[in-house]
Amino acid sequence: MLEIHDLRKVYESPGRRVEAIGSITLSVGAGELVCVVGPSGCGKTTLLRCVAGLLPVSGGEVRVDGRRVTGPPPSMAVVFQEYGRSLFPWMTVRQNVELPLKEKRLPADRRRDLVAGSLRAVGLSDAADAHPWQLSGGMQQRVAIARAVAYEPQVLLMDEPFAAVDAQTRADLEDLILRLWRSFEITTLFVTHDIDEAVYLGRRVVVLSSSPTTVMEDLKIDLPAERDQLTTRSLPRFGELRGHVYRQIQRARGHSEDR
Ligand SMILES: Nc1ncnc2c1ncn2[C@@H]1O[C@H](COP(=O)(O)OP(=O)(O)OP(=O)(O)O)[C@@H](O)[C@H]1O
Ligand SMILES: [Mg+2]
Repeated sequence: MLEIHDLRKVYESPGRRVEAIGSITLSVGAGELVCVVGPSGCGKTTLLRCVAGLLPVSGGEVRVDGRRVTGPPPSMAVVFQEYGRSLFPWMTVRQNVELPLKEKRLPADRRRDLVAGSLRAVGLSDAADAHPWQLSGGMQQRVAIARAVAYEPQVLLMDEPFAAVDAQTRADLEDLILRLWRSFEITTLFVTHDIDEAVYLGRRVVVLSSSPTTVMEDLKIDLPAERDQLTTRSLPRFGELRGHVYRQIQRARGHSEDR
């Protein structure tokens, strides 16, 4: 569904040249959930922005369902870290979720069903007429997730979506993502700096090297498909996988300090 081939990205501005992505080749099958981790500043956000068609690439290509990405593809939805800036404060929750559906030119009754369904799925039916600033951070992020799901994307990209919420809310949101992912079978690329979160959510975890980044490892997460915050995280295998990813990231960081 998502194919990234020899993707390269260099930021060029007068007097400054930053090679952010060395070369990334990666594919995500239909309905797969892949997590991406890597040291801070390695190029995770850059990767996501290139995949979303929000940044021009310097080389290589991205394809969604066989079609080459040259601008934001209509079949893709993105959830960013900063929920506070991703919702329109003058619109109600319902209007925020409905906006992209209007742009998609869906008929009113279909829009109404999708909005109601996605707000129900994230447990926010009662907040439909509230404004974002009347909600907690975790609730705002759930609105952003509802908006992405209502859009019925083929591919969902998430860039550290839970970095700014407390631990309990984060665990709830992780489970929400797993539930939505299972019921809607959305192809998902999930960027996080949290190793535990990557191992808990991902069916694969891609470890990136430090900048200019490349894929250091593409690791299959051989944990039972059914995940649960307490049981899954206390499995010995969970500890092994987390230890392995942790060491890989340490290695990646060591390399950058050597240079
Ligand atoms: N607009 C930009 N112009 C120039 N350089 C940039 C720009 N955006 C990012 N960079 C550089 O590209 C590299 C990768 O940045 P990026 O934000 O993609 O990393 P990241 O892995 O998302 O970091 P973090 O873990 O802190 O979110 C960094 O060296 C950064 O300084
Ligand atoms: Mg980032």
